[in-house]
Amino acid sequence: METASIGATSKGGLCRLTLTDLDAKVRAWFVAQCEAVGCTVTLDDMGNIFARRPGRDPALPPIAIGSHLDTQPTGGKFDGVIGVLAGLEVLRVLEESGTRTEAAIEVIDWTNEEGSRFAPAMLSSGVFAGAFTRQWAYDRTDRSGVRFEAALDAIGYRGEQACGAHPLSAHFELHIEQGPILEAEDAVIGIVTGVQGMRWYEVTLDGREGHAGATPMRLRQDALLGASRMVVAIAAIAARHAPDAVGTVGLIESRPNSRNVVPGQVFFTVDLRHPDDSVLETMEREMHEAFDAAKGDLSLSVERVWNNQAVSFDPACIDAVRVSAGRLGLASREIVSGAGHDSAYVARVAPTGMIFVPCAGGLSHNEAESAERDHVAAGAAVLLSAVLEMDRRLSAG
Ligand code: GLV
Ligand code: MN
Ligand code: MN
Repeated sequence: METASIGATSKGGLCRLTLTDLDAKVRAWFVAQCEAVGCTVTLDDMGNIFARRPGRDPALPPIAIGSHLDTQPTGGKFDGVIGVLAGLEVLRVLEESGTRTEAAIEVIDWTNEEGSRFAPAMLSSGVFAGAFTRQWAYDRTDRSGVRFEAALDAIGYRGEQACGAHPLSAHFELHIEQGPILEAEDAVIGIVTGVQGMRWYEVTLDGREGHAGATPMRLRQDALLGASRMVVAIAAIAARHAPDAVGTVGLIESRPNSRNVVPGQVFFTVDLRHPDDSVLETMEREMHEAFDAAKGDLSLSVERVWNNQAVSFDPACIDAVRVSAGRLGLASREIVSGAGHDSAYVARVAPTGMIFVPCAGGLSHNEAESAERDHVAAGAAVLLSAVLEMDRRLSAG
């Protein structure tokens, strides 16, 4: 609730976009809290923050707990934030109880998980895992043309360490489910087995501006009308591959956006997701066919800007989560994540697992997002237990 005052919206949510002054403020808060428990804090050159509590064996790479402190423009208090703060709580519990671990324990704040300011999502964990080059990431621009690198420098969070040159023994992430399944089944813990595939596209339609009063309907090249047909087509494609497929047009810009001008150009984004990459491939083909059929005399450009394949998490990490939920007597079930997470990229370079807790009504990316205190506490307890379980397994060789 303390961090939720940084970027609070009038409807009870958060607007704390990545690499803004508000992001800098919550980062400073997080760094100060970690230093207060005796951690050493370092930064890499993508602005990822690592807070380390040393272990007995300096040769072992740290066991990491990571998530994100940035939010959507109308985000909630929990998406990402609880993963980082639960990590901080783990550090405090270890410190207060005088617990020594074999491996160091490290809490990570990954830069730009949300991707709403700089697409794609999970940009910095992506660089960490080698999915994108650092230069490509630096060159991403927001909708007003600001480069990622300039925004990172503006808040003063570019570190010395090369992103990715930081081995991890394992990575765990606690997150709200962001969907309705756990709540519907009265399960407190989701044992996350993987993350569904997701693809992002940027679409530009060019038509011709004209006078809204004097241009007859038959002579118009209305880019927004064409875009409308495409928005409907995306929903139809997702429906065709029900129940697992989803498709969203979430951002649309119409130019010149004047009430008495026929729209001459429209830019919009598409987000397609499915747990099976081959179905996603079919959905992409169907989208191209539908757009070609819908464009009429408009000129169309479609660029795929992100292809994040479905991910399966590490069996040992999944097992550490399962064993921990069992020991704590918590009702649990296995679940595949519908949302993207930094863990999806980190899984490429370190054994990785995730823990979900329910959120009210399955609502997320919404200012009304909410989670019960007991559920968050249970998730944090499973996180601590899974980290210690992993540490025992590591020291046992
Ligand atoms: C990340 O928030 C996503 O879009 O799944
Ligand atoms: Mn998140
Ligand atoms: Mn999110």
